[in-house]
Amino acid sequence: MSDSQLFQPPAEFPQRAHVSSTEDYDKRYAESISDPAGFWQKVSERLTWQKKPTQIMNCDLGRGDISWFEDGQLNVTVNCLDRHVEAGLGDRTAIIWESDDPSVDLKISYTELLKRVCRCANLLKHHGVKKGDRVCIYLPMIPELAVVMLACARIGAVHSIVFGGFSATSLRNRIEDSNCKMVVTADEGLRGGKIIPLKQTTDQAIEGLDFVECVLVVKRSGGGPGLRDGRDYDFASELSAASIADTCPPEVMNAEDPLFILYTSGSTGKPKGVLHTTAGYLTYVSYTHELIFDHRAGEDIYWCTADIGWVTGHSYIIYGPLCNGATTLMFEGIPTFPDVGRFWDVVDKHQVTLFYTAPTAIRALQRYGDDPVTSRSRSSLRLLGTVGEPINPEAWLWYHEVVGQGRCPIVDTWWQTETGGIMISPLPGATPTKPGSATKPFFGVQLALVNDQGEIIEGNGVSGNLCITEPWPGMMRTIYGDHQRFIDTYFKAYPGKYFTGDGCRRDEDGYYWITGRVDDVLNVSGHRLGTAEVEAALGHHPAVAESAVVGYPHDIKGQGIYAFVTLNADVVIEEGLKKELVKTVRTVIGPIASPDQIQFSDGLPKTRSGKIMRRILRNIASGDVEDLGDTSTLADPSVVPTLVKGRVL
Ligand code: WT7
Repeated sequence: MSDSQLFQPPAEFPQRAHVSSTEDYDKRYAESISDPAGFWQKVSERLTWQKKPTQIMNCDLGRGDISWFEDGQLNVTVNCLDRHVEAGLGDRTAIIWESDDPSVDLKISYTELLKRVCRCANLLKHHGVKKGDRVCIYLPMIPELAVVMLACARIGAVHSIVFGGFSATSLRNRIEDSNCKMVVTADEGLRGGKIIPLKQTTDQAIEGLDFVECVLVVKRSGGGPGLRDGRDYDFASELSAASIADTCPPEVMNAEDPLFILYTSGSTGKPKGVLHTTAGYLTYVSYTHELIFDHRAGEDIYWCTADIGWVTGHSYIIYGPLCNGATTLMFEGIPTFPDVGRFWDVVDKHQVTLFYTAPTAIRALQRYGDDPVTSRSRSSLRLLGTVGEPINPEAWLWYHEVVGQGRCPIVDTWWQTETGGIMISPLPGATPTKPGSATKPFFGVQLALVNDQGEIIEGNGVSGNLCITEPWPGMMRTIYGDHQRFIDTYFKAYPGKYFTGDGCRRDEDGYYWITGRVDDVLNVSGHRLGTAEVEAALGHHPAVAESAVVGYPHDIKGQGIYAFVTLNADVVIEEGLKKELVKTVRTVIGPIASPDQIQFSDGLPKTRSGKIMRRILRNIASGDVEDLGDTSTLADPSVVPTLVKGRVL
């Protein structure tokens, strides 16, 4: 694919778009860079403040001190709910909920959502949740998830949402790390017609954790284990109590008060509790949602297919869209149930105009050909987006031509849990796109490619490690409970710069192409996993002496998980051992971490100091074995040919 294949914004777009030409983009980008405080002060006026900030930015990246709008005060839910109702828009649909069962959906207006959030906020208070307390939310994609997270924000509690696909062990670690006094879960989840035993997993996860005082259980299926006396409460019946009021005064929050913690994988075995705060985050997600999706309140029906258990759902199903008065669609199901046309059925049913999904979903659907797409109308669509991993040009072109009928611009949005919101993306009315490139930095985002010596690589047609050199309002503020780890992880490799962990190329036109992680982090179907985490999970199996996990190219998942496993000396390899190892990983982390390939190996390529040379393992796993580079520094170079021979793909 040549870099020069350019797709211009469709003719009707620029006339109305929030950013309408490359000149418009260039001019506003330049302003955002030359006077960031002035620029973001103006942007922050889109929010409704209790007290407007006078101090705009006060940041020192080298020390990990980040503060935006410091003396301002506001409440996130006032911005996402009350102000729209007060402006007379209370009847507008805030959330369209599309259930796993295609015959069931519902619409919740802004007025109704505000009332439900207030009632839930009162319920949380009734159960002793106060400002600053952490609440773990382990729910499926049902409206109660939105209600509970907003209820936390209403009273200043900090939510920590855990994706429903994580195991009891993962859930327990997260609840312990952030000391959550309450867990909100459901009896069972439903996805693609399958049951997910959320309450059962919660019971296991919090066994013996005395600081968890209360579990609220939403009834979804009617199944699952019973309620434990004195600890568990039925969400709906508690909420319906006459003593619960319909209104709840919003807690006045300082701009830098925490809004949520969200765990994400790093290069060590222990996930990081990424902490986001109030005003900078909301400013950033609201502004990027409006400009990048070219969102128009009252006209668009916006659908992001992510799960709210990931940052994409936090920023671009809930906080950004609701702050902008959007109608946002929440989907409980999966793209292939009851059949592979489900996405496009939902688009037609709810007349979705803006559609945002992951490359892995696009690739999975592309396999089934055009018919399931072309047999649906999709005439409502006007913009398509992708997020989570690099999109291969073939998938991009199919998305553009078949799904979007060549009419819809594609925004390939690069960002991270840590960045809070989108950092590199086309602006749909302004930026000509290239399939596979996230194109250009958003306003206020200053990128640098850095070599291994830490020197900035200038000019175009170059590659390096992607850094961000100046702070932005949406960035994470700390790792919960471990500020030193925050500094060490993000600001040490290239002092004074935020290091993303991604490799990147800047082409001759100054377009950015993300080439994937350069650290020991995998991206499997857009989900982030640390190789160390998977290795630690494998180590739970008594047969395993040692393992090394690497990624390899996978047609649908983007990256697959390849595990080299050395067994204990006395272990006899039996039929079913590999399955058992996969099961161990599923139990310790969750199904998303299941190894795709397992190779038993007597030894691993280690340096004399005992460090595993992953580069060699990555090459073997990818089938890239022609030139394995210099192996002379290995303690025992003879393990390499044995590993090559034993390759399982
Ligand atoms: C990592 C962040 C941001 C929400 C979902 C993932 C990769 C993300 C893109 C993209 C190429 C991408 C990067 C990044 N990534 N978006 N458009 N093109 N790569 O959030 O779990 O924090 O993972 O996902 O490698 O570092 P996350």
